[in-house]
Amino acid sequence: MEEVTYQGMTFEPYIRREEIAKQVHRLAQEIKRDYANENPLFLCVLNGSFIFAADLFRACGLHDAEIAFIRFKSYEGTQSTGKVKEIMGLDIDVTGRNVLIVEDIIDSGITAAQLRKELDKQNPKSVKMVSLLFKPEALTVGKAPEYVGFEIPCKFILGYGLDIDELARNLPDIYVLKEG
Ligand code: IMP
Ligand code: MG
Repeated sequence: MEEVTYQGMTFEPYIRREEIAKQVHRLAQEIKRDYANENPLFLCVLNGSFIFAADLFRACGLHDAEIAFIRFKSYEGTQSTGKVKEIMGLDIDVTGRNVLIVEDIIDSGITAAQLRKELDKQNPKSVKMVSLLFKPEALTVGKAPEYVGFEIPCKFILGYGLDIDELARNLPDIYVLKEG
């Protein structure tokens, strides 16, 4: 794996596809066990989580699982704007459902907190969250996801669905911004 360049910045290899696959598999086992007799609704938060959600949803192999999509945007370049824009709303009713929010990464927690608040208005039976990546030191609002693939420090990363200004989502591995 080699370094990659986007927007004049250099990124170095950080998490290989084999390691990602291993954690996706582990998370799928836990979710499969916890939702075995349920009809869970996976709620994929676009755009970043589309690749993770596709891999996780298949790996869970739950007979009665459903998936829906919602779209939020909070990042510009390598920085959070501190505000969350809802670009595409939820078009289904989650009343009485077991909702599993699928996120690529939890950073400040603002997106997740806003989404949980919106879902709660519809009285779902349960709301839990799975995030491939979690930056615990960056969390300012809400709580840690119930299921986490990797805990990472406060560094900007991309690949496997994560972007820099909409680019780099198609990289099969995850890269980190090189410092210095
Ligand atoms: P939060 O609302 O601050 O928790 O940020 C959530 C969203 O910001 C994530 O779902 C990502 O789309 C984006 N994000 C946060 N950290 C990164 C990163 O390191 N690289 C790329 N996108 C990120
Ligand atoms: Mg996201």
